[in-house]
Amino acid sequence: MTDQRKTNAELIQQTADFVQERLKDAESGHDWWHIQRVWNNTKLILQTEEADSFVCELTALLHDIADSKFHNGDESIGPRVAGDFLAELDVDAEVIEHVQQIIFNMSYKASLGDVQFHSKELEIVQDADRLDAIGAIGIARAFNYGGFKNREIYNPTVSPLESQTKDDYKKSTAPTINHFYEKLLLLKDKMNTATAKDIAQQRHQYMESYLQQFYDEWNGLK
Ligand code: ADP
Ligand code: NI
Repeated sequence: MTDQRKTNAELIQQTADFVQERLKDAESGHDWWHIQRVWNNTKLILQTEEADSFVCELTALLHDIADSKFHNGDESIGPRVAGDFLAELDVDAEVIEHVQQIIFNMSYKASLGDVQFHSKELEIVQDADRLDAIGAIGIARAFNYGGFKNREIYNPTVSPLESQTKDDYKKSTAPTINHFYEKLLLLKDKMNTATAKDIAQQRHQYMESYLQQFYDEWNGLK
């Protein structure tokens, strides 16, 4: 009998195709291109970190498959959709379980409370996702989000320092520049892996110099 089992590379490609199709109408903060970047970041981190690359790549692809925001805050929807899809592909049960655990524990709500699950693979995909929120891409995503919410780009009378102490940046109505102090400039210290810390360093400096240039132009200095 010939072996009908697919290679991991084939399973990853089928997952990518599924995600791309499913996210074709997604909002731009979490569209297929975000997934593709997180997938690329994951592969970059895997070049220097030891982990199960199959689990990491599948999770990178499936981590935003169903956003709880659009399902009455139901945090189990993402893991469920991912698990159902992988089960149809006949992926091993332990792999499915691991992917589901990571997706559940990477969610925003989970990150606020006691995260019960840890693995090297979770660390890597979380870093890959966070890297997409900083640097040049991070800046673009922030202004895109702010524009969507009809926020000011900047307002010198609204102190960014207040934003830094806000515990829930998602409730913020502040100008987009404040989001750098609420979240983006804090991300480099949240990276789990040494590899991502290193990548984040350069992207962080890019944001710092961007902000300096922004204030200089704002004040008519350059
Ligand atoms: P995640 O998928 O990491 O939970 P979010 O849903 O928080 O990301 O945000 C998606 C993108 O929108 C990120 O790049 C984030 O920095 C940006 N974003 C979120 N909240 C704001 C905000 N208040 N102002 C500007 N950008 C924001
Ligand atoms: Ni994401």
